[in-house]
Amino acid sequence: MLILGIETSCDDTAASVVDTSNNKIQVLSNIRKSQGQHQKYGGVVPEIAGRVHQKNIFSVVKEALTEAKKDWNDIDAIACTQTPGLQAALLVGTSTASFLSLLHNKPLISIDHIFGHISSCSLDRVTADIKLPALVLTVSGGHTSMYLWEEGTRTQLLGKTLDDAAGEAFDKTARMLGLGYPGGPNVEIRAKNGNPKGFDLPYIYLSKESLDFSFSGLKSAISRITQAETLSNSQIDDLCASFQHVMSRILTTKVQRALDKYPQVKQFHFVGGVSANQQIRTELETLCQKKKIDMLTVKSLSYCTDNAAMIAGSAYWYLQENPNIAQIKFLNPQAKHISNN
Ligand code: KG4
Ligand code: ZN
Repeated sequence: MLILGIETSCDDTAASVVDTSNNKIQVLSNIRKSQGQHQKYGGVVPEIAGRVHQKNIFSVVKEALTEAKKDWNDIDAIACTQTPGLQAALLVGTSTASFLSLLHNKPLISIDHIFGHISSCSLDRVTADIKLPALVLTVSGGHTSMYLWEEGTRTQLLGKTLDDAAGEAFDKTARMLGLGYPGGPNVEIRAKNGNPKGFDLPYIYLSKESLDFSFSGLKSAISRITQAETLSNSQIDDLCASFQHVMSRILTTKVQRALDKYPQVKQFHFVGGVSANQQIRTELETLCQKKKIDMLTVKSLSYCTDNAAMIAGSAYWYLQENPNIAQIKFLNPQAKHISNN
């Protein structure tokens, strides 16, 4: 089946064409247009996001079809993010998808954005490579959560950040050190030359069994250090290395706790922008080898940020549960706060 995916839950207008035939979820195109308009406000302004989505959505959909070398006759269904997200932003995606579905007589599939992230390791893989139940750690600028992906689209939230997301902590640390945005890659580069024991930073594990995360104490510790003195270049390297080391230990410890608590887990998936970090990857890989659990990361980093390939790809899992999609319906957006999910 060929699925056209549409994603407009926050500030990225995205469309993608995915082929789910032969039990493989193959991404044929993945177009994303980010909105720079919010920068001066220090956060996403829903009203502006909606208007910019409206301006871009049709050209983004057209580009997704062109890049995939497909036209409307080839498309079997439209998958669109219905929840969670900003109401004004979701409304553009859902009403465009509903309109296109009526115009071209294609069934509509409603997708949960969070499930899109959870299932993103299945993109560009044969579906038999996904072994469920899987433990999924999703770590980005807006999300830090652990899920048990049980079967089909059934998932269970095991833990989430109580304050900042891990990527946000990387970005704020980089900002305090004058390293620019996005902070993660810059902190990682500086950490390569630093001493991970150079600074004594707090390891916040919460209670003994907790699978939740908290990074605000780590951020405050960095802030106190940067305010107390002007750091030399080698001290900045050490602080980056120490920060990355703490972050890596915390994430790995939480994954270890979850693997101990859920012995039925067959695979571990590490997704989100922070999964690009080599040190964190290596530490998680070592843990998985010890536990004899297979570890997967996404095939392309473009599947980490908000994107429509993960929305179109999710349709495969929805269709496994509910293959009867002949009925056309109008999708109403269901706004919910998206961060920290
Ligand atoms: O998933 P993502 O691309 O986008 C959203 O958050 O929507 O994640 C971006 C986050 C940023 O906070 C960025 O600093 C972080 O991922 N990141 C990294 C690395 N590359 C990106 N963090 C640590 N190490 C990296 N190499
Ligand atoms: Zn997201």
